[in-house]
Amino acid sequence: MEIRITRTRNPKKKPDENSLVFGHDFTDHMFIMNYTQGEGWHDPRVEPYGPLQLDPSTMVFHYAQETFEGLKAYKTDSGDIQLFRAKDNAARLNQSNERMCIPTLDEEDVIQAIATLVKVDQDWIPKAEGTSLYIRPFVIATDPFVGVKASSTYLFMIILSPVGAYYKEGISPVKIYVEDKYVRAVPGGIGFAKTGGNYAASLMAQVEAGKKGYSQVLWLDGIERKYVEEVGTSNVFCRVGNKIYTPPLQGSILSGITRDSAIKLLRSWDIEVIEERFTIEQLFEWHRKGELQEVFATGTAAVISPIGALSWQDNEITINNNEIGQLSQRLYNSITKIQNGQLEDSFSWIT
Ligand code: COI
Repeated sequence: MEIRITRTRNPKKKPDENSLVFGHDFTDHMFIMNYTQGEGWHDPRVEPYGPLQLDPSTMVFHYAQETFEGLKAYKTDSGDIQLFRAKDNAARLNQSNERMCIPTLDEEDVIQAIATLVKVDQDWIPKAEGTSLYIRPFVIATDPFVGVKASSTYLFMIILSPVGAYYKEGISPVKIYVEDKYVRAVPGGIGFAKTGGNYAASLMAQVEAGKKGYSQVLWLDGIERKYVEEVGTSNVFCRVGNKIYTPPLQGSILSGITRDSAIKLLRSWDIEVIEERFTIEQLFEWHRKGELQEVFATGTAAVISPIGALSWQDNEITINNNEIGQLSQRLYNSITKIQNGQLEDSFSWIT
């Protein structure tokens, strides 16, 4: 596709690379493309970053028909720009679009749009340790209409944000509250889709856990409230002896791309990864028997977050002495080194 580029005449001052706050600063440009019924996706363009003018009745404001993605770009020591698993993000965007009745995008066009925008704003890719350029593609329903239906017009946009560590603690163990009052998703719902409603629905639990002194919540399944599903906005893994357990993707869990990267790396190291349901009771039992070596969460934003403590029904356990586990550290090092070009990309994850 042919992308029209209009460059800003007022470039912004870039933030200090050593004190980046996740999701706070945005680059000089953004990508936009329109969808109109009959015409399909059209008018791909890069424009100066700035506010949108939308009618107050615009459908996304009312019924949340939208999807989004998150991925990162890195600059290697030799100056090449690398996108991590962009093809997988483009494919997942379409899975979310299908669930939300949004017209799918050509996945090659999505990658071209990301690559074009990142090239235009390449001077914004930070180089300091642990930093990257976070890429946020998203699609919103734009019909000016307050009846409940699928929109007939959409905007696909991409914005970029130079980021540091997601948690202000960096890679250091976090305290997690096991949520047994609120649920995140149910079978048949939208848990597997990357759509704003899932995140809006999670806020109350996050706020309440924060008040109790926890960074995030561990979500249990929405029916029996006993099976482990996710942690905050991330997937979760437990190391029990030398085996790794992670909940299977059965519709209520987001198919994390870092989850998939972790599974592929672990298996390449001959570590057994078991994708089976397990209960919170089982997890506490593994701990009681001294078999629970590590618990960690995986996500694009934070990469790997070791979990140092878990609180469930007034019972708090400490995991691995609240230290970073050996596998958590090894996964973090390997993934981040592949991302920034310091380790061979043997899985063809880099564009
Ligand atoms: C991630 O871990 O990448 C997330 O999903 C968090 C993001 C929504 C900020």
